[in-house]
Amino acid sequence: MNKQTLTITDNRTGKNYEVPIENETVNAKDLRNIKVNDADFGLMTYDPAFMNTSICKSTITYIDGDNGILEHCGYPIEQLAEQSTFLEVAYLILHRELPNRKQLKKWTDDITLHTFVHENVKKLMEGFRYDAHPMGMFVSTLAALSTFYPEAKLIFDDELRRKQILRLIGKVPTVAAFAYRHTKGMPYVYPDNDLSFVGNYLSMMFKIAELRYKPHPVLEKALDVLFILHIDHEQNCSTTAMRVVGSSHSDPYSATAAAAAALYGPLHGGANEAVLSMLDEIGSVQNVPNFIKKVKEDKGKLMGFGHRVYKNYDPRARIIKKLADQVFDITGRNPKLDIALELERVALQDEYFIKRKLYPNVDFYSGLIYKAMGFPTDFFPVLFAIPRTAGWIAHWQEMILDSEQKITRPRQIYLGSKRREYITISRRG
Ligand code: ACO
Repeated sequence: MNKQTLTITDNRTGKNYEVPIENETVNAKDLRNIKVNDADFGLMTYDPAFMNTSICKSTITYIDGDNGILEHCGYPIEQLAEQSTFLEVAYLILHRELPNRKQLKKWTDDITLHTFVHENVKKLMEGFRYDAHPMGMFVSTLAALSTFYPEAKLIFDDELRRKQILRLIGKVPTVAAFAYRHTKGMPYVYPDNDLSFVGNYLSMMFKIAELRYKPHPVLEKALDVLFILHIDHEQNCSTTAMRVVGSSHSDPYSATAAAAAALYGPLHGGANEAVLSMLDEIGSVQNVPNFIKKVKEDKGKLMGFGHRVYKNYDPRARIIKKLADQVFDITGRNPKLDIALELERVALQDEYFIKRKLYPNVDFYSGLIYKAMGFPTDFFPVLFAIPRTAGWIAHWQEMILDSEQKITRPRQIYLGSKRREYITISRRG
């Protein structure tokens, strides 16, 4: 076998350095040995936005962006979406194995036990303005949960850590639904623990006067699949936020709030909301060519297109596109689907998008399904955050138990003024 090393010649000094290659990666710290003299700090890498930097070793999710492959613990996303359930996949990414029947029952019971929130959480949420963005309420309430569970700070206590994990997965749908009811001015609906994870969530969202809410089985299944598709996506912006904040050993509620805040942006989980606004703006299929022209002139982005990792069709978008038909059979077809299909058709044939390898991502079609199911547009990022919470905490746990991890603290290249003497204000001109 060839030697697994990299030889670097520093032309400043003429010296050679041999750096080990492990997992097709060089350790950035090895570059620090490359110095001009003993006083030199050593060579660093410059990588804004972590375009080519691995920040951890992980065993949760594998993505091959060039070939459009996504797997969780080895299982292809297509098989999980077709055959599994959200809670099963949540178990998988936290334990790295699918549960057997007994394990799944216990896991489901344990999470179901934690669906209720303290009454003061309700009071806290009542304090938000009537038109508060649901994601703002969601982020703030998640952070506030840390004040209800101060023991969550003991992150290295295995039992306590497990309890917070169950609480987080169990409570996020409740917090999310309360945020929705708040904006509608409707009474909050308490969890119904006889329903499935998704069924209960739909009940907390949409129950009105009926004694017991009965979710439509097709819509319940569709949302469960959407939850599976959003559960994890390795080192994306919000998961990295979770790891960075968690690396200072803050409690998991605070770290999850930070991750949700990162998700909120329109370049990440807020894109599904932005797609619907874009489709509204385009208005009709006839306006698609003009809109694409504007995007190519750099006057806006085709939201729901492009991805840092996928340079091929996002496999999740493919599954969602199929799912849309099943949902529209029940809810009626959303006329905006035609605009989306035309956008996709035109973009995938256009040199601009082909050259840049821009394909639909997970957010391109998900919003249309959410809309058809009755969720308001500004609620879409919350629908993303509910399942992604399981992914965030899987990564958080992996990070805090990884002996190679430390508090995240990157370096910078300082290009500001050199040292100078202070000038009193009267002499500043
Ligand atoms: N519409 C038009 N042009 C685009 C788009 C788009 N959606 N996405 C990328 N491009 C262009 C860029 O302008 C750039 O062109 P250039 O080389 O001429 O400068 C080129 O494609 C490369 O794009 P980058 O922005 O450098 O790619 P990056 O990896 O930094 O960004 C991102 C990825 C943020 C997802 C980007 O594609 C984007 O903004 N997409 C729209 C927002 C969106 O859908 N986000 C959801 C992503 S999925 C998720 O987070 C769940």
